[in-house]
Amino acid sequence: MHELITLNPDFQQNPDVKPRAFGDGSGPRVYIRTYGCQMNVSDSQTIETLLSEAGYRFVDEAENADVVLVNTCMIRESAEVRALGQLSNLAQLKKKNPHVVIGIIGCVAQAKRREILDAKPFVDLVVGPDAYRRLPVLLEERFISPPGTPGLLETTLLRDELYDDILPRHAGGVTAFVTIIRGCDKFCSFCVVPRTRGRERSRPLPSILREVESLVAQGVKDVMLLGQNVDSYRWEGQEFADCLQAVANVQGLHRVRYMTSHPSDISPRLLETMGAHSKIMPFLHLPVQAGNNRVLEMMNRPYTRERYLDIIQTAREKVPNLALSTDIIVGFPTETEAEFQETFDLLENVRYDTAFLFKYSARPLTKADRIEDDIPDDVKVARLERLIRRQQEISREQNLAQLGRESVLLIEGPAPKDETMWTGRTPDFRPAVISRNGEAPGDLVRVRLRELNGFTFVAERI
Ligand code: 5AD
Ligand code: SF4
Repeated sequence: MHELITLNPDFQQNPDVKPRAFGDGSGPRVYIRTYGCQMNVSDSQTIETLLSEAGYRFVDEAENADVVLVNTCMIRESAEVRALGQLSNLAQLKKKNPHVVIGIIGCVAQAKRREILDAKPFVDLVVGPDAYRRLPVLLEERFISPPGTPGLLETTLLRDELYDDILPRHAGGVTAFVTIIRGCDKFCSFCVVPRTRGRERSRPLPSILREVESLVAQGVKDVMLLGQNVDSYRWEGQEFADCLQAVANVQGLHRVRYMTSHPSDISPRLLETMGAHSKIMPFLHLPVQAGNNRVLEMMNRPYTRERYLDIIQTAREKVPNLALSTDIIVGFPTETEAEFQETFDLLENVRYDTAFLFKYSARPLTKADRIEDDIPDDVKVARLERLIRRQQEISREQNLAQLGRESVLLIEGPAPKDETMWTGRTPDFRPAVISRNGEAPGDLVRVRLRELNGFTFVAERI
């Protein structure tokens, strides 16, 4: 199962290299920089646990570190450029300190493995998302290699890697992410994720509950269940609705939400479960990607505009006060102005509370990359701007409609700009501030939403 590809021929043949346990926590200092989605953030926390257990320490500046890891994202070209842009700084760092170990990890590492090592000789490690367990042994190998030894590559995608026995290090605070499913089998034609994160695997429910319980014991009150497609979760006959309900039943947890869903997998039972359980928050992120059926088909999204709108309607019926968000891509190859207009109309029709709007970006290893990226950039930009402008108006209108309503805030902590206020969120995920009055982070406070400042509400106790 474990294929190891390495540019250092000695490495495979050296069974004597064992990860050292720096038992007293005096081990090498690690700096991790994380780019991209919440899955990457959650993976970085898993790495923190894994390396802390081996005695490594974590620092906040690359300059003070013995090991620098960059967790990369390649969902769009801009993300990849941003993450790889770090590399020139790291080259400088390596020049100053030839002993620092530099690792590129995450999605770009997976997809561009050899290219990175060939083009960037100062990179010591290239490690993909399923191979983080190997980090202690790979790091040990680098510590004992003379400077200038070619970098090591470990990018095997494993059908069974779930990191489910590793409780990710909790960063503090009352909210946390919990990964429940890894990988993706949907193969949307524009998306590189199935290539970088491999096949879909659900984490056993008992291990999810163990992690949630451990987080609650550390003061967490609001958990976001994470996965590329949480609603295709399956474990021993249980489906996502069961998982959601089981997490909601964890003693001491106030709120659970989830991200991301695929319209093809949303079941009526899931929507019923959401509506029926007071701890499951009325928030649904349901990417539509496009509002035209021909484009959806080309995107390999197996639903129609009509089916999507049906799901939205059912969701709104089953879940009172449901807030909705989505992802949309404009300028997919061959998209006509009329087809874009259908996406625009869908966005107007649904009236999302928030939306993540993107320009199509051709990605290596995807099916769409074989079609000519024929929509000129200025056309993509114009479509994107139209959509953004309209969505901003709608988001504002949706928020204004909340003014005067009662809600319950979960206090997250002091407001960043005003220490005399708390910041928190409503069940439908709207940020709000309230004056401090003896509460503590993690408390629930009944409020009325009084004013809107940008996208943040000012609330008052009732
Ligand atoms: N170009 C633009 N946007 C993309 N996304 C995924 N792949 C691409 C791409 N090649 C968007 C989708 C997805 C979100 C996470 O990123 O909308 O839902
Ligand atoms: Fe990418 Fe589609 Fe999978 Fe989401 S569902 S990760 S967009 S392939």
